[in-house]
Amino acid sequence: MSKRPIGSKLAMVALMAAALGGGVFVMRTLTPSGAEPPGAESPDTKNSAAEGPALIAQGQGVYRQHCASCHGRNLEGEPNWRRRKANGKLPAPPHDASGHTWHHSDKLLFRIVKRGTAAIAPAGYKTDMPGYAGVLTDREIRAVLAFIKSRWPSDIQRRQAAMSRK
Ligand code: HEC
Repeated sequence: MSKRPIGSKLAMVALMAAALGGGVFVMRTLTPSGAEPPGAESPDTKNSAAEGPALIAQGQGVYRQHCASCHGRNLEGEPNWRRRKANGKLPAPPHDASGHTWHHSDKLLFRIVKRGTAAIAPAGYKTDMPGYAGVLTDREIRAVLAFIKSRWPSDIQRRQAAMSRK
């Protein structure tokens, strides 16, 4: 994966073209808003944006049925969620802005929900976060993540979306 965003590559090409006298080309390439070309987004982000309210409503149902018992009805998580329990396992963290779910990309969040935390942790890691493969469909997983995201303030949504594009 390249660290350099596609936008800056385009900008470089545009600058080179400008140096060769292609001023018009620069204008066309960098507007509107110097945005990345379509297709740069991950499919998950694009789908949830396009399907919007229906996906979020479905996700709320999935959340209440499958996640709220541990992560809290209002996404508040368990008390003292940063402190391991006596059995060495972590409590369920909040999914709201106070938690750290939003520090993860769409891809990783999908993987955690589908495969469980054990799948992304070092071998032997003990966790109460189950994987939902075989319980939830991929769409239901996207839906529950869309619901969780819909509860974040817009600046958090933007930061997490930017992380997902890397
Ligand atoms: C049996 C309790 C339980 C249920 C039910 C549960 N979780 Fe979790 N979840 C946890 C625990 C505990 C963790 C922390 C795991 C760890 O780090 O060891 C966690 C972690 C996570 C994380 C990672 C959060 C982070 O900040 O890294 C995500 C995402 C997540 N859960 C989503 C879900 C979703 C979506 C559902 C419902 C489909 C769900 N969980 C159902 C207990 C649960």
